[in-house]
Amino acid sequence: MEINVIHNQSCLEGLKNLPDNCVDMIFTDPPYYQYRAQNVAGLKNHKDVVTEFDFDGFKSEEEYLKFLEDVLAECFRIAKPGAVGYLWCGDDFVSFINRIVEKVGFQFRKVIHWHKTNPFPAIYTRKMYANSMELLVHFSKGTPKTWNHKPVNQMHNFIEAPICMGKERTIHKTQKPLKVCLPFIEISSNEGDLILDPFMGSGSTAVAAKMLKRNYIGFELNNDYCTIASERLEKVKH
Ligand SMILES: C[S@@+](CC[C@H](N)C(=O)[O-])C[C@H]1O[C@@H](n2cnc3c(N)ncnc32)[C@H](O)[C@@H]1O
Repeated sequence: MEINVIHNQSCLEGLKNLPDNCVDMIFTDPPYYQYRAQNVAGLKNHKDVVTEFDFDGFKSEEEYLKFLEDVLAECFRIAKPGAVGYLWCGDDFVSFINRIVEKVGFQFRKVIHWHKTNPFPAIYTRKMYANSMELLVHFSKGTPKTWNHKPVNQMHNFIEAPICMGKERTIHKTQKPLKVCLPFIEISSNEGDLILDPFMGSGSTAVAAKMLKRNYIGFELNNDYCTIASERLEKVKH
């Protein structure tokens, strides 16, 4: 399968075409399973908040977790021994995801916290805090083969950065800023390595990989996002 391409297809289909033990690193941001409160007035308990499923068509939590497990099982097969993976998630699913990565054969290593310095403001009538954290689950296939040290104060499991803004921002609603992609790819891979992202969105993983002279391969269901990603990639010059 061609590398340095974002394939416009479901990763569940596409990953099957990749051979065993072929990628050096996984960096990915799957669709989040999210609920949205329709009516925030008069909430009695947390269950009242969880009223409406609002993302990517999964019908239940079980279906969502099974989907992630199927994708991660393929990632395990495709990862070289010593490959490292990073997977973004919200705080509501992190403990499930830790278990899934271990169930499919990876070693869970650490949860990394991204503090968004400019989160969407809290809606105070919901009596909830602003969602200013996203989590990055770090895992590996055995002992990591690459660990490019940075100064000690840059190796905390905490990173602070604004959500995507300005020229970097595309129409993708959940675009990850390059600032929270580049350091992890730099630490856990080397030039020429192959980085996999089954859920490319606007292509942030691929752009970061190209900037760091890594190869990439990935999948994205939405053709418009594939076009946006290609345009971003064309602008990366070495
Ligand atoms: C959270 S977004 C990724 C955003 C990306 N990190 C960025 O910076 O733009 C998840 C993406 O996965 C895509 N997606 C959902 N299901 C998919 C599937 N089965 N195969 C490939 N892509 C899928 C969605 O269209 C969405 O763009």
